[in-house]
Amino acid sequence: MAEEREQKVIVPVPEAFRAQALIKSRQQYEEMYKQSIEDPSTFWGNIASQFYWKRKWDTSKPICSYNFDIRQGPVSIEWFKGGYTNICYNALDKHVNEGRGDNVAILWEGNQVGQELRLTYRDVLKKTCQLANYLRKRGVKKGDRVCIYMPMVPELPIAMLACARIGAIHSVVFGGFSAESLAGRILDCKSDVLLSCSAVQRGNKALNLKAIVDEALMLCKQKENFTPGTCLIYDNANAVPRSKVNWVAGRDLWWQDEVRSCSTEAPVEWMEAEDPLFLLYTSGSTGKPKGVLHTVGGYMVYAATTFKYVFDYQPGDVFWCTADCGWITGHTYICYGPMLNGATQVVFEGVPMYPSPSRWWEIIEKYKVSIFYTAPTAIRSLEALGDKHVIKHDRSSLRLLGTVGEAINAKAWLWYHRVVGEGRCPIVDTWWQTETGGIMITPLPGAWCLKPGSATLPFFGVEPVVLDQEGKPQDGPCAGYLCIKGAWPGMARTLYGDHQRFAETYFTTWPGYYVTGDGCQREANGYITLTGRVDDVVNVSGHRISIGEVESALTSHKSCAETAAVAFDHDVKGQGIYAFVTLVEGVSPTEKLKDEIKAAVRREIGSFAVPDVIQWAPGLPKTRSGKIMRRILRKIAANQFNELGDTSSLADPAVVDQLVETKRGNTRISKL
Ligand code: PRX
Repeated sequence: MAEEREQKVIVPVPEAFRAQALIKSRQQYEEMYKQSIEDPSTFWGNIASQFYWKRKWDTSKPICSYNFDIRQGPVSIEWFKGGYTNICYNALDKHVNEGRGDNVAILWEGNQVGQELRLTYRDVLKKTCQLANYLRKRGVKKGDRVCIYMPMVPELPIAMLACARIGAIHSVVFGGFSAESLAGRILDCKSDVLLSCSAVQRGNKALNLKAIVDEALMLCKQKENFTPGTCLIYDNANAVPRSKVNWVAGRDLWWQDEVRSCSTEAPVEWMEAEDPLFLLYTSGSTGKPKGVLHTVGGYMVYAATTFKYVFDYQPGDVFWCTADCGWITGHTYICYGPMLNGATQVVFEGVPMYPSPSRWWEIIEKYKVSIFYTAPTAIRSLEALGDKHVIKHDRSSLRLLGTVGEAINAKAWLWYHRVVGEGRCPIVDTWWQTETGGIMITPLPGAWCLKPGSATLPFFGVEPVVLDQEGKPQDGPCAGYLCIKGAWPGMARTLYGDHQRFAETYFTTWPGYYVTGDGCQREANGYITLTGRVDDVVNVSGHRISIGEVESALTSHKSCAETAAVAFDHDVKGQGIYAFVTLVEGVSPTEKLKDEIKAAVRREIGSFAVPDVIQWAPGLPKTRSGKIMRRILRKIAANQFNELGDTSSLADPAVVDQLVETKRGNTRISKL
C-alpha cells in the first residue's frame, strides 16, 4: 500500500538544475523530438556533422533507410550510408588534435583502496595505438573478430578502442561467464584472437581468469578443433603473481611484454558507416545466446548523443558508470559515450561492499563525481545496510543520478533520491537494451518532472508504440507490448551470422515494428513505465538471463530428468530464479545434490545465473499435449496458492497439489 502511494509522487525538476541544463523544458524537447521524427536527415545530420568523417555520407539520399516489415522484404537498417569514419578516432584523436589531450579521460580505481591510475586522452590514445599496432603485427585486419575476456582494468576499454581503430570486431565476454560460455562465444564468431588477463581480485577473492581461459580453449579444441591464433594475457600482478599463472608456451603471450615495444602511433582504418563495430552476446528466449551486432556510424552518433543529453553532460563533470564493459551499459556509457564527448570518468574495478559498504561513496567524494549511473539491485542492497555508510561521505559534487538494467521500485528510487542525492539530484531511470545500443526511454533531467519507477518519455528519434494482444497500436493511456516504430541510429543491425534469427526474434510477431520483449503502461501525459519481460527472459540483478539456458544447464546434470525454471520477485535482485527439478528414477533428493546441480549452472553459464531456489518436483504440471504450465509454477514460486486458476485441463492435476504441499512445507520451515 505504502509503495502504491509513493508511486504517485511526482518530483519536479529543481530550478537550479533546470537553469543550467542542456534541455530546459518539455517544450524545447518536443520541438527537437518532432524534428528528429519528421526530419531525421536534418536532425541527425546536424549532430553527426560534429564528428570527424573521412568522407561524408551521401547527402543526396535520406540519412536512413530501413525495412521493418518482413512482408515487404528482408529486414534492413542503414544509417549514414556512404560515410567513412572511425569511432576510435572520434573518441581519442579528435580530442588530442583539438588541444584536449591533457584532459583526464580515465580515473581508474582498483579493487584495493589506494590502487589508482589517471590516464589523459593522450595517454589512452598512445596505449590504444600500441595495442592496435600489436594486433596488426599479429595479422588482425578489418572484419576479424577479437574476443575480450577481461576485468575492469583500463586495458579493457583500451582493447575495445584498439579493435575499433583497426576495424576489427570486438566481442567482449563478461568476466563472470564460465569457460563453457566463453568457449561458445569464441566458437560462434570464430574469433582468432583472445585478449584476457591473468586474474582479477574482486573484494577479498582472487579469481583466476587464466584458468578459465585455459579450460575454454580446451573446450574450443574438443568441440570444433578450433584454437585462436593469438592469446594475449594481461599480467594483473595485483591479483596473482606471474609465477602462479599456468602457461602454455607457444600459445600464450604476456600483454605487457609484447605490446611495450610497439609504436604509440597507429594509422586509422576508415570504416564505412555500416561496417560492423562490435558483437555482444545476449540471452534470448531460446537456449543459444545471440551475437547482437552494432555498426560504426549510427552507434557512434547515438552513443554520444544519448550520453550528452540524458546525463546533461557538460565540461567539468566527472561521470561514473558502475557497469562492467562486459555488458552493453559498459560499452555505451564507459567505453564510447563518455569518450566521444571528451568526458572525464571514473572506472572502478572493485565491488560496492569492499572493503566496506562505504566504498562507492568514498569514491564519489574522492573524485568529486557529479554524475553517477548504477543498477537498482546495487541501490537496494546498499539501502538495506542503512544510511550511515552513505552520509559519512561528502556527496556535494553529485548533481545527477541514473539507473539502468531493470525496473526500480519506488521505495529504492526515493531512498536514492533522498539519501544519496540529498534530494537535490534528479534521477534518470533509463530503459534500453543490448539491441538498442543506447538509452531509448528516459527522463531528460532538466526538462520534465520525474515519477519514481517511470522511465517517462522517448529519446530523440525513438517512436514507441504500445500494441495490444492483436498487435493493434493503442492510443492514450494503456498497457501492452512495447514496440518501436521506425529505425534509430544506435539499433542493432543483425545477429552475427544469423540474419534470419534477427528477423524472427524482433520483427515477426508484429511485422512493421521492432518488438522489445517488454511490457509497459502508458499514462495520459505520455509517461511510460516498464512492467517487465513478456518472454522467457529473467532479469536477475540487472543481468538478462534466458530461462531456456538455465534449464538446459540444469539438465546438463546427470541426475536431472526434467526441469522448469521461473522468475519470482526478489527484494534485492529484482527477480530471482526458482527451479523445479524432477530427478532421474532411483536418485535420492539430497541437499548435496542441490549444490551439485547449482554447480552445473555455474559451470555452464556463470555464478550470476545460479537458481536461488531448487524445489524437487516428482512431476511438472503439463497440458495433455505435454506443454509445461509455467503460469502455475510462477504462482507456486510466489506462494500465491489461491491463484492457481483452473488446473483441470492438466494431464495430471494431482502434480500441482504435491508441489504446493512441498512449497508450503518449505515456506513453513524457512519461517521458523
Ligand atoms: O527488461 C528490460 C530491462 O533489461 C532488458 C535489457 O537487458 P540488457 O539487454 O541486458 O540491457 C540492460 C542494460 C541496458 C530490457 O528488455 N531493463 C533495462 N533497463 C530498464 C529495464 N527495465 C525497467 N526499467 C529500466 N530502466
